[in-house]
Amino acid sequence: MKTLVTAIQKGGQGKTFATCHLAYDFAERGLRVAVIDLDTQGNASFTLERHHTGLNASQLFTHPEQVKTWAAGDCTVDGLAVIAADASLANLDKADLATAAGVLRQSIAALAGHFDVCLIDTAPSLGVGMTSAVLAADYMLSPIEMEAYSLQGMKKMVTVIGNLRKMNPKLKFLGMVPNKVDARKPRHVANLATLQKAYPQLILPFSIGARDSIAEALGEQMPVWKIRKTAARRATQEVRQLAEYVYTKMEISQ
Ligand SMILES: Nc1ncnc2c1ncn2[C@@H]1O[C@H](COP(=O)(O)OP(=O)(O)O)[C@@H](O)[C@H]1O
Ligand SMILES: [Mg+2]
Repeated sequence: MKTLVTAIQKGGQGKTFATCHLAYDFAERGLRVAVIDLDTQGNASFTLERHHTGLNASQLFTHPEQVKTWAAGDCTVDGLAVIAADASLANLDKADLATAAGVLRQSIAALAGHFDVCLIDTAPSLGVGMTSAVLAADYMLSPIEMEAYSLQGMKKMVTVIGNLRKMNPKLKFLGMVPNKVDARKPRHVANLATLQKAYPQLILPFSIGARDSIAEALGEQMPVWKIRKTAARRATQEVRQLAEYVYTKMEISQ
């Protein structure tokens, strides 16, 4: 099983959008996909509600043995299982990081024999949850909006990744996904150019436009390619390109 965390310490960038769409795409490929929702806002848990089969994310930090039992049972719906965000996740920030990260690793190891890929969606803060997830993951992806505050958030995230990689040397940063890009806005074009110049190795070679159909799909609890509107076609192509890129980079085997 390969594990990917979607993280950036700022909200509204597209972490949940990316997590849910990678999950849908990978499950359609016939992979067994586990999605862990570590954000108490529970957005991924909502979009993937149909795939919830009883395990809550806080249990991954407290009861790895329950994870083992759950994973051994009939835990997916159409190849996809969401380990849903619950209120107890809020207690994580009182927990000791080393302990929390250690138990999360055990829980992820318990999923390993039962899933091909595990996708972790995180909350927009550098708390114990996000840090533990980055310490437990093999790959990391950071969607980013082309706005000044997002660029600032990314700068901090790059430093953080550098530090966390010392503790998790196997972590591969797949890169930043420019998201919600509006090519008609000179500000977006300029910010994208700034990022490409600052991090030529870290920015993905394509971007995702600001597409209403993406927001609509997440609200309708379905992937954008199931939205029956002409406007969803372009979004579908972009999201499929992202999924193909991540799939190839993660070298997932079935
Ligand atoms: N490419 C996009 N085009 C239009 N809306 C988007 C796009 N990506 C995300 N959104 C919307 O923007 C909001 C924030 O995205 P989300 O994935 O929830 O971000 P995060 O998880 O980083 O907080 C959501 O309402 C989502 O539907
Ligand atoms: Mg989110």
